[in-house]
Amino acid sequence: MERRKFLSAAALLALKPTFGNLYQSNPEFYLNRNADNVELWKDLRALFPLQKGRTYLNNGTMGITPYPVLQAVEQSFLTAATEGAYPGHSDELLKLIAGLTGVTADEITITKNVSEGTNHVCWGIPLKAGDEVILSTHEHVGGCLPWIHRSKSEGIVIKTFHPGKNAEETLRNFEKAITKKTRVVAVPHIPCTIGQILPVKEICALAKSKNIITAVDGAHPLGMIQFNIREIGCDYYYGCIHKWALGPLGTGFLYISKNILEKTKCTHIAAYSSATFNMTSNPPTMGELVPTASRFTYGTFSGPLFDGAIKALQLYNDIGPDKIEKRIRGLATYLQDKLLELGNKVEVITSTEAASRGAQISFRINNGNKKATQDFQSECNKKNIVIRYVGESDLDCLRVSTHYYNMEDEVDLLVDELKKYIGG
Ligand SMILES: Cc1ncc(COP(=O)(O)O)c(C=O)c1O
Repeated sequence: MERRKFLSAAALLALKPTFGNLYQSNPEFYLNRNADNVELWKDLRALFPLQKGRTYLNNGTMGITPYPVLQAVEQSFLTAATEGAYPGHSDELLKLIAGLTGVTADEITITKNVSEGTNHVCWGIPLKAGDEVILSTHEHVGGCLPWIHRSKSEGIVIKTFHPGKNAEETLRNFEKAITKKTRVVAVPHIPCTIGQILPVKEICALAKSKNIITAVDGAHPLGMIQFNIREIGCDYYYGCIHKWALGPLGTGFLYISKNILEKTKCTHIAAYSSATFNMTSNPPTMGELVPTASRFTYGTFSGPLFDGAIKALQLYNDIGPDKIEKRIRGLATYLQDKLLELGNKVEVITSTEAASRGAQISFRINNGNKKATQDFQSECNKKNIVIRYVGESDLDCLRVSTHYYNMEDEVDLLVDELKKYIGG
């Protein structure tokens, strides 16, 4: 049943060279058009294998991989298999991520996902029983489980704060959670729940003034909004390429500031963590850990996925981060305005403050039926519309993500379904 909804692999292969070539042979087709030009986005939509009739508004869970990226991955796997070429470390991906986030390549290490970065940080910061760590109540399971597990196993104490309606309220709530025992704050830049952009720069500045270590979960920003880690001022920043940057699944990164690298315990060590070792001496010895964040990338890795990630970031740069941000924030505003027009049966939860609104809008249905929000998601599933149910922190809401491959008529379709639902 499920299979019929998608193009067969053979059909995909038949299409792929056409669209891949369209991009490769004709990159000018988007360069001279600005973010307001809908035709530009329609043309770019052709780079995505998404099936016609499938309204995918869930990029916050997983980005759709465009053909040029799929091709890069396939080509790289083929090269490895035909030449027996073992993937070596290349600085290209590190440089691309560093360039996009305002830091240097030696402060970036590649991970397979956000959770891996969170774990390196959570277990790498020296803490003792009773030390307090502040998290938000809107954490993703991957953002909080490592800390909760450490609190169970090592007795650190977790304190939480609620994101507010706007940046100012969020900052005030965070401030109230600080005590003399606070050692770390680990917060999402954009939570998975309601997509609100949190004031991480202000949170980090306040934390720094009290000698608190700062870690930012950046699962969502890369590819959605432009940001500068140095300006945010955090010690650690962990994100991924497989959401808004539209890279292959299983690609992430971790930033570790130079100032904190040596103080961070490296819990996983293997090939590439250190340049030398000697098993014939007694006792066996190893050299120093390499002096860069890449000491955290160890052992054989999926080079082809990294090659796909490079392609995804090149495509992002080619189209233009500014243009993409305008487009996807514009679509989110378009959706939010339409939801706000629907009256009190639809409660828009994501902040309407422009600085706090990214490319995800969350809402819940208040029509007297306690199950309405979940029911509506089931209705959407039946109509081939994909949105995410948010059960975290009992929020009971729906999150809609809009990327540049989404079109206004897809947003209209969702809103029309919602009108039908609340009207009935
Ligand atoms: C805010 C946030 N943090 C962490 C994660 C975990 O990401 P990953 O699955 O790449 O480990 C997610 C995933 O959706 C997320 O939204």
